[in-house]
Amino acid sequence: MRQSHTIVNIDDLRLRAKAKLPKIFFDYIDGGAFSETTMRRNRCGFQRWELVQHVLRTSENPSLKCTYLDQDQTLPFMLGPVGFLGLYRGNGEVQAAQAAKNRGIPLCLSTFSISSIETLRREVGGQLHFQLYMDRDKSFVEKLLDAAVKADTDVLYLTVDTSVTSVREKDVRNGFRAVTRLNARLLFSMMQKPAWCLDMLKTGSSNVEAVRDFPEFGTGALEQASNLSGRLDPSLTWDDVKWLRQKWKKKLVIKGILCADDAKTARDCGVDAIVISNHGGRQLDFASSTIARLPSIREAVGREFCVMIDGGFRRGSEIIIALGLGASCVLLGRAYAFGLSAGGQSGVEKAIDILADEIAISLKLMGLNSVAELQEAGAECVRSAGS
Ligand SMILES: Cc1cc2nc3c(=O)[nH]c(=O)nc-3n(C[C@H](O)[C@H](O)[C@H](O)COP(=O)(O)O)c2cc1C
Repeated sequence: MRQSHTIVNIDDLRLRAKAKLPKIFFDYIDGGAFSETTMRRNRCGFQRWELVQHVLRTSENPSLKCTYLDQDQTLPFMLGPVGFLGLYRGNGEVQAAQAAKNRGIPLCLSTFSISSIETLRREVGGQLHFQLYMDRDKSFVEKLLDAAVKADTDVLYLTVDTSVTSVREKDVRNGFRAVTRLNARLLFSMMQKPAWCLDMLKTGSSNVEAVRDFPEFGTGALEQASNLSGRLDPSLTWDDVKWLRQKWKKKLVIKGILCADDAKTARDCGVDAIVISNHGGRQLDFASSTIARLPSIREAVGREFCVMIDGGFRRGSEIIIALGLGASCVLLGRAYAFGLSAGGQSGVEKAIDILADEIAISLKLMGLNSVAELQEAGAECVRSAGS
């Protein structure tokens, strides 16, 4: 990535993304629901915990390998579903998938994507996961599932915390989702960022590929986005999870769990994993931070069940806190979306490398030889601050 010497952490990537993206898209990534209290809590939640330092006992290069969803992985984090990557950077989904593949980690493609899962399989390969939003029309959902099977998708995530799309006030002000066609205001906002415009022009049309054959969704990413989100099933229940469990034979993950009872119900429905998530503070305002809920959820579902987590991770040390508190792995959201917006594929690689390096340094300073050792030791390595 050019000028990468100035980028030392994820916040630097965020600032670079802000400089590069039209305001409407930067705000869409950066913002949260209503007062943004949940979003801030995700970040503040890590402050409650401290890492235990041990000296004079470590090897040179701690292993960051990790196992989750029955797969050995090179790193204890992966790229979670973030909608419309292809609007932040031309071919954004392809570039993010290539970065994930180069670093040996999975990318989970959102339903709300410009490129389809088939395109990613064809052009990139690697470990591709797919995130599903349950549409009101089950036959449309079945078509998405067929496409995921055809693209040899190993893991399906059902996102369950969007029974209603919450209000992100920055998006309301900018007209995101309300705007379905390029208007003068949008055009003006885009013209402020000529490099972004050129990049988009180079890539060509921005349509949501997965709905290409469904004229009822309209044309152009903005209109399709608006229609897709308007069609989310508001009456989703555990029966739908059971329906999906019947349909989808491979690994199934429920994303958007924030309390122990729901985690147990998900496990009892036969899903393979959950993601503890509050959608990055974009849905229920004044909800708990995800990290605060992790210990009780881990205790409720037992040691063996796969518990993934996302929400506010911007530092390697924060990923260590989650792993020490019982997470099987961490999903990144904005951290890599900022990387992509800042520098395309190499920006995503930069985000991954920054976090991997930070984890390695902290593990060494904690006297740990590996992520596996950290996960085994758990509470001996991560404890309540000041205890
Ligand atoms: C711009 C943006 C778009 C998102 N789109 C989706 C999506 O399409 N599907 C989904 O399940 N979650 C989506 N999420 C939520 C993320 O998967 C994840 O839960 C959240 O970003 C984690 O918080 P963090 O960004 O603070 O790391 C989105 C998040 C952002 C920031």
